[in-house]
Amino acid sequence: MQPILNVQNLTMDFGGIRALDHLSLQVHSGEIVALIGPNGAGKTTFFNCITGIYKPTKGDLLLTPPGKKTKKLNGLKPNKVTEQGLARTFQNIRLFPNMTVLENVMIGRHCRTRSKIFGAIFRPPGTRREEEEIIQDSLDILKKIGLAQLANEYAKNLPYGAQRRLEIARALATNPFMLLLDEPAAGMNPQETLELDELITTIRDDGLAILLIEHDMKLVMNISDSIFVVDYGKKIAEGSPEEIAKNPAVIKAYLGEEIEHA
Ligand SMILES: Nc1ncnc2c1ncn2[C@@H]1O[C@H](COP(=O)(O)OP(=O)(O)O)[C@@H](O)[C@H]1O
Ligand SMILES: [Mg+2]
Repeated sequence: MQPILNVQNLTMDFGGIRALDHLSLQVHSGEIVALIGPNGAGKTTFFNCITGIYKPTKGDLLLTPPGKKTKKLNGLKPNKVTEQGLARTFQNIRLFPNMTVLENVMIGRHCRTRSKIFGAIFRPPGTRREEEEIIQDSLDILKKIGLAQLANEYAKNLPYGAQRRLEIARALATNPFMLLLDEPAAGMNPQETLELDELITTIRDDGLAILLIEHDMKLVMNISDSIFVVDYGKKIAEGSPEEIAKNPAVIKAYLGEEIEHA
């Protein structure tokens, strides 16, 4: 089966530093794929290359949305990548703290609307109808994420775990077929992590593919269909959770580090 995301030999240099070194990775429709590795391995850089924040030094980024032709993502600006159906969250929460929960989701939705700035200023009837649709769609997403009862709360007043969920809600509002999550469980307590596990699985069951950067190995092992392991920008292993758990190179590079830091 053709992957929906096919990354070939992705290489990213920052001056003299090679953050990614010929890294290849595939995600298939309906899969949860994890990207793991020690801090500084290049995981966030990988997301930044796919989503148009960085321009890769080398390599191909190929996206095949369901039922559509393959498209090269290389050189596309972040908003254009989002329009292709790829949405992401950030390692450091990026919400609008002084806007409500609902408004934060509506902002994600706006990338899918027709009226844009002209309509926002002059507000012809079509725009008002569109605005109502956006509100309804955004409320539906909040319901799914379990935040509907907090819709009118300021984002900054949400507990940490809920802010992370809100980021996912905003990404979903762009109507993606694939979601990239950068350490969604970071800073969550065990109960919040458990709920996140369920949420990610639900999103997958709704038909989205998910590429997940995460340090919580219990979460990764529990929900991933396949796992890619990077160290110093290079892929050192790929396989099922069972294969990864017993891979000596992974134990040395990744789990070894975990033990050292414990
Ligand atoms: N904009 C940048 N300029 C220079 N170096 C960068 C930049 N972004 C990332 N790096 C470097 O790339 C390497 C990988 O970083 P990163 O992708 O954040 O790792 P991870 O997410 O796996 O912890 C690090 O050495 C980091 O310092
Ligand atoms: Mg990172």
